[in-house]
Amino acid sequence: KSYVVLISGRGSNMRSLLEADLPGRCAAVISNRPDAAGLDYARERGVPAAVVDHKAFAGREAFDVALAAAIDAYRPDLVLLAGFMRVLGDPFVERFAGRMLNIHPSLLPAFPGLNTHASALQLGVRIHGCTVHFVTPSLDAGPIVIQAAVAVLPGDDPARLAGRVLEQEHLIYPQAARWFLEGRLRLAGGRVELDDDPA
Ligand code: GRF
Repeated sequence: KSYVVLISGRGSNMRSLLEADLPGRCAAVISNRPDAAGLDYARERGVPAAVVDHKAFAGREAFDVALAAAIDAYRPDLVLLAGFMRVLGDPFVERFAGRMLNIHPSLLPAFPGLNTHASALQLGVRIHGCTVHFVTPSLDAGPIVIQAAVAVLPGDDPARLAGRVLEQEHLIYPQAARWFLEGRLRLAGGRVELDDDPA
């Protein structure tokens, strides 16, 4: 099995995936930004790193088509969005239905979209966290695979809270990817199925 990771920047989640020794090969890391720091890390590890620059396309549809073609060239079993900051159109999402996951820095369905940590602090929740979900056309609303909870502590600011959430992201995303690559995780009739550990 193989997977492709899509990034837009730092790429720490991509790094946690590559370091997790998953039961599949990382066929490529693809960024929509040529300056994404994560690209250098991928290249250092000998993983093909490609750029599909959204600024080079007239509109979202053209970008989506080019991105889909770049992914398909590697024929991956699984597509992992890891800090990928472009909204993807329905045809793109449907093309990879059931084989595309995203990591989101909140306990969905709370705080979809951007600025999740500031929103959590603003609302005063005591438990925050992160979610891995299958990607469906409704943004950050696909079926949930795994979550990790993080306590909000007195004196937290968005950056501090984000740091503790990120530590959990780095644990649950490789776990979800492992399940999928082991053939234990799937989307069936719009619901998540996870088989028991055969061991
Ligand atoms: C992560 O918090 C991810 O959940 C969010 O953006 C951040 C990306 O970080 N969507 P990195 O690029 O993986 O380091």
